[in-house]
Amino acid sequence: MKKLKDNITIFQEGNNNNTTILFIHGFPFDHLMWDKQVSFLKNDFHTVTYDVRGLGKSYKGNGQFTIETLVDDLENIIDSQKLKQPVICGLSMGGYIALRAVERMENKLKALILCDTKSEADTSEAKLKRAAGIKNIDEKGIKNFVKEFIPNTFRKESIEKPGIKYKNILKRSEEFNPTGVKGCLLAMAGRTDTTDYLKKIKIPVLLICGEEDRLTPPEVMKNMADKILKSEFYIIPESAHMAPVENADSVNEKIITFLKKII
Ligand code: MLT
Repeated sequence: MKKLKDNITIFQEGNNNNTTILFIHGFPFDHLMWDKQVSFLKNDFHTVTYDVRGLGKSYKGNGQFTIETLVDDLENIIDSQKLKQPVICGLSMGGYIALRAVERMENKLKALILCDTKSEADTSEAKLKRAAGIKNIDEKGIKNFVKEFIPNTFRKESIEKPGIKYKNILKRSEEFNPTGVKGCLLAMAGRTDTTDYLKKIKIPVLLICGEEDRLTPPEVMKNMADKILKSEFYIIPESAHMAPVENADSVNEKIITFLKKII
């Protein structure tokens, strides 16, 4: 574990002479959501995971930040750790950060992996849901918010599977700093739309989506893939929005096949 500027906490595994895969988790989770990808890849790759600003061990400040700040954090990880053209892999909110990072600094990246995410900005309805989330945290507390939000991201069957460790995931998120969680909600509500850039992306992109993802359904990701020059799109069975956690074997197989083609 290493602390960078502004308390951004990163975790590295494997040999840093190997290609780096830099993972960006979803909301409201932490770096541990990539556990099964890290243990699968660390012998042949250098893996970097981190807690996004506001969440997990990366809480600091007053919750005033934007997706631009979150991309600055990502860029600072790449620059300060001297990562040479990492592959970046983001899930949902992590995908929003990754897509904006590609728009801002594609030349620093080797390839992109997008899991259960989308390029569109929040609709008015989505912004109102973020506002209701903030009110919910203020009035009923972070535990209540997390208990209402997280079940929507998993398949019912996954919640009951012992290998998923759902209770541990929930418990970690319940302990997040409420100001940091609200900061992420505001950052997501204020993000730009990256759809126009999809047709300009030159690096290879792997897109994967859980077959039962209700937040960013497979059709949404298929539409994105159709706009990207060098793209591959796969639907992951037996999973909803948290495909890398819910069906890690299938996601890992898609990731390794993609990585072998591009390095
Ligand atoms: C996530 O998984 O990161 C969130 O569901 C994203 C969002 O709320 O838009």
